[in-house]
Amino acid sequence: MLNLGILISGRGSNMESILKTIKRKKIPINPAIVISNNPNAKGLRIAQKLGVKTEIIESKGFKGTREEYDEKIISALSKNGVTPKNGLVCLAGFMRIISPKFVKKYKNRIINIHPALLPAFPGLDSQKQALEYGTKYSGCTVHFVDSGMDTGPIIIQAVVKVKENDTEESLSKRILKEEHRIYPEAVNLFARKKIKVYGRKTKIT
Ligand code: GAR
Repeated sequence: MLNLGILISGRGSNMESILKTIKRKKIPINPAIVISNNPNAKGLRIAQKLGVKTEIIESKGFKGTREEYDEKIISALSKNGVTPKNGLVCLAGFMRIISPKFVKKYKNRIINIHPALLPAFPGLDSQKQALEYGTKYSGCTVHFVDSGMDTGPIIIQAVVKVKENDTEESLSKRILKEEHRIYPEAVNLFARKKIKVYGRKTKIT
């Protein structure tokens, strides 16, 4: 079976939603390892409670290069069967940019969730960016990771209407609800080999 590695930095609510949906819907993928770059990430305890192995690879104070840090991640993933041949890597609120070498090694096997309708509002604070811009709709995007910032082929998007009196908090909350729905769905599609990638486009079969 395919092995899943999830990388987190904090709360881990998307990770939780993925792990619970795998169990509930019997998605054919084995949650092999959750890795956090932050030792205080709340998600670590959630993963442990759900019976998934965790590992901390602290990035703060790491003296080497980005590539050297990513080598540590790759080695932890591989050790747990999350290989470029037989693995899927989900970035779930993992607040680090991944080196081109890592992306290349796991080509079209790393996916990410972003709280906006890409290509709008990449980077940080996307919900705030949407509110300040005055868009009437925002949402979230699950996409493959390439070497750009939030630029890889899009797998699924969900639209969320922006309300006139929305705050960053209220909009984020409604977007998060959709994130929790579409991220596990993308994992399901990947596990069932239903996603084909053509250049920067994907087709769900
Ligand atoms: C989520 O809203 C996710 O979309 C966002 O961080 C949050 C993590 O929450 N990711 C990004 O902004 C990536 N650019 P979680 O830890 O509860 O899943």
